[in-house]
Amino acid sequence: MRTGSSDSTPAGSGSQARGPFLTGSRVLVTGAASGIGQAVAARCLAEGAEVAVLDRDAPGLRRWIAGLSPAEQARATAVAADVADPPQVRAAVMEAAGAAGRLGGVVTAAGIGGYTGDVGQIAEEEWNRTLAVNLSGTFHVCREALSFLRAGGGGRIVTVSSQYGLVGGAGSPAYQAAKAGVIGLTRAMAVDHAPEGILANCVCPGPVDTPMLRASSGHGELTRREAARTAGRVLLGGPGRPEDIAGLIAFLLGPEAAFLTGAVLPCDGGWTAS
Ligand SMILES: NC(=O)c1ccc[n+]([C@@H]2O[C@H](COP(=O)([O-])OP(=O)(O)OC[C@H]3O[C@@H](n4cnc5c(N)ncnc54)[C@H](O)[C@@H]3O)[C@@H](O)[C@H]2O)c1
Repeated sequence: MRTGSSDSTPAGSGSQARGPFLTGSRVLVTGAASGIGQAVAARCLAEGAEVAVLDRDAPGLRRWIAGLSPAEQARATAVAADVADPPQVRAAVMEAAGAAGRLGGVVTAAGIGGYTGDVGQIAEEEWNRTLAVNLSGTFHVCREALSFLRAGGGGRIVTVSSQYGLVGGAGSPAYQAAKAGVIGLTRAMAVDHAPEGILANCVCPGPVDTPMLRASSGHGELTRREAARTAGRVLLGGPGRPEDIAGLIAFLLGPEAAFLTGAVLPCDGGWTAS
């Protein structure tokens, strides 16, 4: 029996996947007020899902929902929370699960960047906050979502790491430690929850044109050094678009990914191959 196809995650073989393939599924997307998370939410809506968008930026969520068509607005719910705050996450995920108390998928894209300098330079506070949001935040959301995924008989978790979860880089040790941790957490969830039909996979974006990437170029010498060191790594030319990452994540939420769990998938234009 294939696992991970719940009553809220449409089942079927690849050849049957035609048209909107997430109709009937309810998907929680974190970090959805911006960048990759927002593109994932938009793609899920386009594929027929109901989406609950979670972010600490409540006005950003409201603005995004206000720009949707009335039909899409009817399938979108905004829940504001800081993923680093467990009580806020508990309340938000419960609200995201809706009246039916079920989720078919969870995507954890909320995150903060981390050019902080090397381990000798990073402030304790920066280390703690980066781990709290990027790693513990992912844990909090997944933990709270578990019972709602189980309620539907299984479902999908897609975490968002980074190419820096797989390879080293200059000047962002906390970010890299957190993103490597997200990979370990995802594999742990894949092992523990496969018997329940919960599939967990991790996407590792390379440079993607979002506010986070644009802000990272404001770190002066540090980012110039890393840019010079990594020039040419994106074999396909870069940066990528948020929609490039959203396409892979939508695939992982859908019926054609029914035999994928514990996978760690770079979506980086070739960065980690070069
Ligand atoms: N853009 C890139 O080049 C790139 C590369 C590799 C990995 N990533 C990862 O992709 C994910 C999305 O990044 P992005 O580029 O779209 O960034 P972004 O800054 O455009 O969006 C991140 C979103 O997360 C939200 N957020 C931040 N901290 C939060 C918190 N504590 N609680 C709730 N929401 C919070 C922000 O408000 C924002 O809406 C991040 O995890 C990031 O590390 C991005």
